[in-house]
Amino acid sequence: MLRITHIHLNDIRNCCQADVAITGRLTIFVGPNAAGKTNVVEAVQLLTAGQSFRHARSADLIRHGATTARAVLTVADEVRHLEMSLAINETTRTYALNGKAKRVADMRGIMPSVAFTPDDLDLVKGSPAHRRDALDALGVQLNKNYQVILRDFEKILRHKNRLLKEGEASMLDAVNELYVKVAVQLQNYRRALFARLEPQISAHYTHIADGETLHGYYEASGQTTTPASTDQAPPRKRSEAAMVDSQALAAAVEAHRADELAAHRTLVGPSHDRITFQIEGMDATRFASQGQQRSAVLAWKLAEADTINDVLGTFPVLLLDDVMSELDAHRRAAFVRYLQHDIQAFITTANLDYFDREMIQEAQIVQLPFESA
Ligand SMILES: Nc1ncnc2c1ncn2[C@@H]1O[C@H](COP(=O)(O)OP(=O)(O)OP(=O)(O)O)[C@@H](O)[C@H]1O
Ligand SMILES: [Mg+2]
Repeated sequence: MLRITHIHLNDIRNCCQADVAITGRLTIFVGPNAAGKTNVVEAVQLLTAGQSFRHARSADLIRHGATTARAVLTVADEVRHLEMSLAINETTRTYALNGKAKRVADMRGIMPSVAFTPDDLDLVKGSPAHRRDALDALGVQLNKNYQVILRDFEKILRHKNRLLKEGEASMLDAVNELYVKVAVQLQNYRRALFARLEPQISAHYTHIADGETLHGYYEASGQTTTPASTDQAPPRKRSEAAMVDSQALAAAVEAHRADELAAHRTLVGPSHDRITFQIEGMDATRFASQGQQRSAVLAWKLAEADTINDVLGTFPVLLLDDVMSELDAHRRAAFVRYLQHDIQAFITTANLDYFDREMIQEAQIVQLPFESA
């Protein structure tokens, strides 16, 4: 199993220079507020997943006063020894593997990662876009085609929205034809991925929440004429989840043509897909308690790790940014149990008291801030 064995940071965020040899399976980065803990998680996520939860501009990643930044991860197993690097200047990011320049698409999946940050606690309560993004971020780590389709879709969506904004009705039909083609591909990728992920979320949730049930549903926009989320029409059961049908989407796009021109934006398709959860039969976004939401988010994250293991045959590195303080003792314990898998984890915290003695003894403790070079 590939493991991160070394982290090098140079002029990334508040870090002048750091070299950390990673010696164990669990590494706890500990330090006061503003020490740079989240910055480390961000850098590792940029290298492993090709993007970070902060979605920062390149210029913001470079330490104030410097002009370039660099981060390098060494990852190794019994046979391989890889150096994954990222060089950042004001406008560009250049990835390389063992010194050879690579596209970001080719870096993803080498050392997959799952990050869990306090922002993720919005995953259930937040807008549907949160959940779509989380699903897509998993998809692009698992499958290069997913990434190509997602990029193509974003391109055609931008193009279509520009036409709608400018009221260019004459070109709309040609663009819509292409739009439907790409949109249906993306929806089918999402549907297939969610079908894999959902049973794992459900199983983890029941375990964390003492037997309560959770079920998730992916509703591809443009596939049904009646809104699937009304109380009278519960979403279809997972077993009934059909292939997404391009004729249905084409018809829905056509039916929304006048509305889209009037609204100056796209109203149907993947950017309106919905992922919903029901806990004990009730819509989680509307009815779940704080604790139920937290359990659901935790279950989603662990399910992501399971899914990566199922598909790629290796667990991802878990990047847990300050989540111990956000979870209660019961949910922390669920996490710690999960860490007993053969899994590498980076955990940040301002307070080691959240961890039991055994875990601290097993872990490598890295103190922040890093000493300036
Ligand atoms: N480009 C940059 N140049 C210099 N400093 C930066 C840059 N970007 C961020 N910082 C600083 O990095 C510091 C550390 O940020 P970080 O979010 O990693 O802290 P943290 O240890 O996670 O703190 P907390 O416990 O509060 O979450 C912040 O004070 C921030 O101002
Ligand atoms: Mg932080």
